[in-house]
Amino acid sequence: MEFSELVATRKMTREFSDAQVEASLISELLEVVRYSPSAGFTQGFRFLVLTDSDVRKSFFKTTSDKNWLDNPDSSKITTAPVIVIPFSLPETYIERYNQPDKLKAHRNANFIEANETPFWLTDMAFATMLLLLRAEDLGLGALFFAIHGGIYNLKESLNIPESASLIGAVAVGYKSETGQRHLRKRLSADQLVKYNSWH
Ligand SMILES: Cc1cc2nc3c(=O)[nH]c(=O)nc-3n(C[C@H](O)[C@H](O)[C@H](O)COP(=O)(O)O)c2cc1C
Repeated sequence: MEFSELVATRKMTREFSDAQVEASLISELLEVVRYSPSAGFTQGFRFLVLTDSDVRKSFFKTTSDKNWLDNPDSSKITTAPVIVIPFSLPETYIERYNQPDKLKAHRNANFIEANETPFWLTDMAFATMLLLLRAEDLGLGALFFAIHGGIYNLKESLNIPESASLIGAVAVGYKSETGQRHLRKRLSADQLVKYNSWH
């Protein structure tokens, strides 16, 4: 698929078919994160992949409220055969930006901690976007969704380091025929992009 077509075709999938995703395809999908850019080439992002059905059930139980779980529509997402949890490790960036080449460039050891938009979040978002695109490329559907609660318990149950930052999770599987919906209109490039000055 042409890149422009891939980008335009990718949509969040909110209903997955019952089909399992082959282990080799999951590995192929995750391989893409190696190529994501990262500040200082720190590569401080990590991806925990949940394939075991009990672990996935426990993920949703830990992070979702009962009302949402009891809603029949939720099962369209909770039955996704793969859940990927991207997380990043702030300490890897602090360490990297305290190395001689970075200290020389920024002349400020606190640069990384004082950064208004932490690099570890930016990097994790970049890598997650690559993952969404690669899923489409491999004929899979994916949904990035926010984690609304239970982060502390989730980290503990999955042995994710306490220091880790999470931005959400990605459900992955084969798309079901009826899974796509668009409620809002996509803005035009004219609305999103201006040249030289924002007015
Ligand atoms: C930071 C972020 C959080 C999101 N959280 C959710 C979510 O919790 N549940 C959901 O169904 N979609 C979620 N989405 C998906 C957006 O609703 C979706 O990207 C948007 O409607 C545009 O549709 P498209 O990605 O299919 O083009 C999230 C997207 C982003 C970038």
